[in-house]
Amino acid sequence: MPHVSAPPSSPPRWLLYGASGYTGQLIAEEAVRRGHMPVLAGRSREKLAPLAEKLGLEVAVVGLEDVRTLVSTLEGLPLVLHAAGPFIRTSQPMVQACLSAGAHYLDITGEIPVFESTFQHDTEARARGITLMSGVGFDVVPTDCLARYVAEKVPGAHELDLAISTSGQTSAGTARSALEQLPAGGRVRRGGALQPWPMGKGLRRVRFVDAERTVAPIPWGDLVTAWHTTGIPNITTFMALPRGAVHAIRLTYPLLKRVLSVGAVRHGAERLIEARVHGPDEAARNEGQAQLWAEARAADGRRAQAWLVLPDGYTFTAVASVRAVEEVLARRPQGALTPARAFGADFVTSLPGCQRLDTLE
Ligand SMILES: NC(=O)c1ccc[n+]([C@@H]2O[C@H](COP(=O)([O-])OP(=O)(O)OC[C@H]3O[C@@H](n4cnc5c(N)ncnc54)[C@H](OP(=O)(O)O)[C@@H]3O)[C@@H](O)[C@H]2O)c1
Repeated sequence: MPHVSAPPSSPPRWLLYGASGYTGQLIAEEAVRRGHMPVLAGRSREKLAPLAEKLGLEVAVVGLEDVRTLVSTLEGLPLVLHAAGPFIRTSQPMVQACLSAGAHYLDITGEIPVFESTFQHDTEARARGITLMSGVGFDVVPTDCLARYVAEKVPGAHELDLAISTSGQTSAGTARSALEQLPAGGRVRRGGALQPWPMGKGLRRVRFVDAERTVAPIPWGDLVTAWHTTGIPNITTFMALPRGAVHAIRLTYPLLKRVLSVGAVRHGAERLIEARVHGPDEAARNEGQAQLWAEARAADGRRAQAWLVLPDGYTFTAVASVRAVEEVLARRPQGALTPARAFGADFVTSLPGCQRLDTLE
């Protein structure tokens, strides 16, 4: 049975906040392709208007500091897909507005503190009968689904490793969110708790579908979400990186952290990102690919691994987030949930261009 519902017959209306951003636009276009009519929202009419005109959609202009107007904007809308990041700065007011208005909240964050904060509202979300779901994009749909898949093959597993290899560029929003998280440093989950991990340490080799690569531990959102999805207490998330880049990170990180604590330097870095980082164009997105690997291990030696091959992360985010909207509107799960807990391990393989393998030749 496919895990994703067919495109709905009457156009669903919901709020897409941050629609003028690089990823917000991709989501809006995918939503229209799927027969939705989202209301395009954000803080600048000027930035939203061209997209709304092109797609024939309504606009709602409201700043996140104005929760009262946010709540009234949500009247009659069942759901918000939040695409305005860094989410550490933007998710709280929208979660509060959704709880007040009784609208489901979904976002595309990959930021650890944001996942933690969303889970803290579980009881309120249940009481309100709504879903709170952070991470319905490339972070963390595929890794969360793969984590659940291997965990279900090894009941009682005590260790989970997840590794990501991507080709291609990042958007300004992704770069700004990464910058925001940099001072927090590396992290792993051990004995059920998040723990600091020295940046650039713990390199290993991982066999991906097409090649073996060097990977380094990175603080990916699954350190929170895979723990919620699988209950496995020891989790490490890795990213494939050139060895030179890992050594450079290890050597420069302490200085970088100190320098970035100076407000003027951080603002300068943000301005530089704004000017120089534009995200992959359509051709690059079409050529891009991501690969994942996951392994669950039990103390008695049982283990299971699996791989995923996916489209480019931004294409994936647009497709996965719109399908997550459809799933939430159809199933109406309640509480703060991960994508794989709500939709199952096969959610990812039901998305176009996503293939899971249990073995490699
Ligand atoms: N899960 C994933 O795999 C995934 C994939 C792609 C992106 N993301 C995340 O999504 C976020 C957006 O990425 P992007 O590439 O679309 O970035 P972007 O092109 O810079 O767009 C950011 C959007 O957020 C809005 N925004 C930012 N801060 C805001 C605030 N305080 N109040 C209201 N609106 C605000 C911006 O509005 P203005 O233009 O008015 O500033 C803009 O519409 C980033 O955090 C990124 O990491 C995650």
